[in-house]
Amino acid sequence: MTSLDSVTNPAHDLPDVSRLVVGVLGGTGDQGRGLAYRLAKAGQQVIIGSRTAERAEASAAELGLGVRGADNATTARESDIVIVAVPWDGHAATLSALREELAGKIVVDCVNPLGFDKQGAYALKPEEGSAAQQAAALLPDSRVTAAFHHLSAVLLQDESVAEIDTDVMVLGEERAATDIVQALAGRIPGMRGIFAGRLRNAHQVESLVANLISANRRYKAHAGLRITDV
Ligand SMILES: NC(=O)c1ccc[n+]([C@@H]2O[C@H](COP(=O)([O-])OP(=O)(O)OC[C@H]3O[C@@H](n4cnc5c(N)ncnc54)[C@H](OP(=O)(O)O)[C@@H]3O)[C@@H](O)[C@H]2O)c1
Repeated sequence: MTSLDSVTNPAHDLPDVSRLVVGVLGGTGDQGRGLAYRLAKAGQQVIIGSRTAERAEASAAELGLGVRGADNATTARESDIVIVAVPWDGHAATLSALREELAGKIVVDCVNPLGFDKQGAYALKPEEGSAAQQAAALLPDSRVTAAFHHLSAVLLQDESVAEIDTDVMVLGEERAATDIVQALAGRIPGMRGIFAGRLRNAHQVESLVANLISANRRYKAHAGLRITDV
């Protein structure tokens, strides 16, 4: 019996998301490609988005698994769930330009606003409070959630790693939307999606990545998180 067998599995009451199309904005990067790989391997239909359709198509072809590639706008339009995996620098501009395409969609922001200096990584303080709150402000017609902040893109992309041993903190304002994102996380072997509050509490979740980066550097690891007693 693993330690997780003895606790309630929050995945039991979650909706079936297996037929939903997942798009990844910035899906040509490490995090986006890693998530696309894991979700497609789990049987999800996935579209990789990019500022350039050709780059997306090339990344999709490399991944195989039925993954398609398209420009970010087409990706947003043709997906049910859209993961935002662009750098913080390009976050506001990317989302502002896609307001129409993202209307009515579940948007999953995994962006960690971080700075780096000689002492390592540190959390930036977005004017809106967090990247997720910036997304919600820019996308009033979308169902904005936040999740997948603490994953290692190295592990996600490593085909020799069968299971990703981590929990995914899922934040949002609407229960039906966070349930769908929890269920999506649960599609990836080893992962559980755990509800972790409203978007006003996204800042510390995004910021915690600075601590994980410090742990990774000290211990030469790809640290993840587990929420105990859930
Ligand atoms: N890497 C990780 O381990 C990890 C883990 C958790 C969360 N995250 C978060 O996920 C996001 C992506 O991380 P990453 O390491 O994959 O980043 P990345 O490789 O630097 O960027 C991802 C993709 O975003 C696009 N892009 C680059 N600059 C852009 C801009 N100014 N505007 C719009 N799109 C731009 C690029 O795709 P095209 O050129 O094809 O458009 C790039 O391939 C970040 O916000 C990060 O905080 C990363």
